[in-house]
Amino acid sequence: MADTFFKWDQQKLSTHVEAMDNEHKKLVDIMNRLYERHEAKASKIELNSIIRELAAWTITHFDHEEKFFDTLPYSHAAVHKKIHKDLIERLKGHQAEFEKTGVLTPAFFQFLKTWLTAHIMGIDTKYGEIAVKQAG
Ligand SMILES: [Fe+2]
Ligand SMILES: [Fe+2]
Repeated sequence: MADTFFKWDQQKLSTHVEAMDNEHKKLVDIMNRLYERHEAKASKIELNSIIRELAAWTITHFDHEEKFFDTLPYSHAAVHKKIHKDLIERLKGHQAEFEKTGVLTPAFFQFLKTWLTAHIMGIDTKYGEIAVKQAG
């Protein structure tokens, strides 16, 4: 059994907004599945379908998240949306590369890891703090 790619850490990764945490967990689950199936040398077709699922869920999650933080007095909304757009572009870039080469590089998995840690921990937790304050 291969090591898990990414372990959810409630203390570090929680936004304190349950709905968003659940969506982030689902994101982690898809990434873990992609990693495990890649380690198990699954076919290009199978890996491609997981990457598609990841891309689709990412777009859905970012949409939910943006709608959520737009209801808060959150001053970084525009910057946050721009970062989401860039992440989707980068994910699509990796996806296109995989379709061409059939290889998922360590750089690709590093990109996923950085996204989870830097984005969720560094940025998503910011609207979480405001949501918590708002809830009083
Ligand atoms: Fe975000
Ligand atoms: Fe998020």
